[in-house]
Amino acid sequence: DWTMGAYREEAIQKIREQVGSERVICGLSGGVDSAVAAVLIHEAIGDQLTCVFVDHGLLRLGEAEQVVALFRDHYNIPLVHVEASGMFLSALEGVSDPEVKRKTIGRLFIDVFEAESRKIGGAAFLAQGTLYPDVIESVSFTGGPSVTIKSHHNVGGLPERMNMRLVEPLRELFKDEVRVLGRELGLPEGFVGRHPFPGPGLAIRCPGTITAEKLDALRKADAIYLDEIRQAGLYDTIWQAFAVILPVKTVGVMGDGRTYDHVCALRAVTSVDGMTADFYPFDMAFLGRVATRIINEVKGINRVTYDITSKPPGTIEWE
Ligand code: XMP
Repeated sequence: DWTMGAYREEAIQKIREQVGSERVICGLSGGVDSAVAAVLIHEAIGDQLTCVFVDHGLLRLGEAEQVVALFRDHYNIPLVHVEASGMFLSALEGVSDPEVKRKTIGRLFIDVFEAESRKIGGAAFLAQGTLYPDVIESVSFTGGPSVTIKSHHNVGGLPERMNMRLVEPLRELFKDEVRVLGRELGLPEGFVGRHPFPGPGLAIRCPGTITAEKLDALRKADAIYLDEIRQAGLYDTIWQAFAVILPVKTVGVMGDGRTYDHVCALRAVTSVDGMTADFYPFDMAFLGRVATRIINEVKGINRVTYDITSKPPGTIEWE
């Protein structure tokens, strides 16, 4: 795509002008956006860039391994893998308010980035894969009053106080454009086509308080759901699909015993840019198959529901 080729060259020039000879830290989330930002910045400034992948304990099954493999093995881009799940999960203990979750996570991300920055002698810049819709949605809905819907940031709501300046080379792009740019930069198709995954991770798919048990059940349910979606050949048709674990327990019966476990909600939407979305009309047989597998295979879940809310009035994520 010649337009994206031109964008790439222009973006590289801009990054070089902004950054000069300073060091840059780029937070990788496991999503497409931060990966594309990192590869682009690496092209621009080479080893002035250090990529940091923070495992906050809120990732999906196998996610950390996939990201590390892509960067270290495929790209040979140096990557610091920070295992910080203890720190994040203890800071989130007892927290149920969605904005407090986002802000807590954003603050801890910055703490980690600042610590990594000190280790490399001080980075002047933090790079992020912020897209145009992220910029709009964290400010206000166009035309309406200036209300924050969510502290929408790649790292889940950055604190005001931060030593580093931001480099955000994707700020003018929509998701489909980022994918074109990713292909242009040679990212593997399987990575470019990944569904979006929010910086705050599974924290915002676990309404109410976050516990290790809930996260564990959520990860397993989510993996089964996505596995079935891939097998049905629907992954690329759907913008985003994921499981949510609800802070509600209901009664069930399994074998000849009573169960009292959590409810899992499944979400799948189609969208062009994430700003509006329609729920995906799965056939009932598919949903039934997924529900059966989740309840049979995941300890702690005994009921599955499907979210049929579009955006607006719902948002894609539950928090
Ligand atoms: P909502 O839930 O606002 O989400 O309808 C729109 C799109 O944005 C993703 N999302 C985030 N992405 N950091 C991100 O990088 C965030 O804090 C964040 N919150 C939501 C969401 O997954 C969906 O694709």
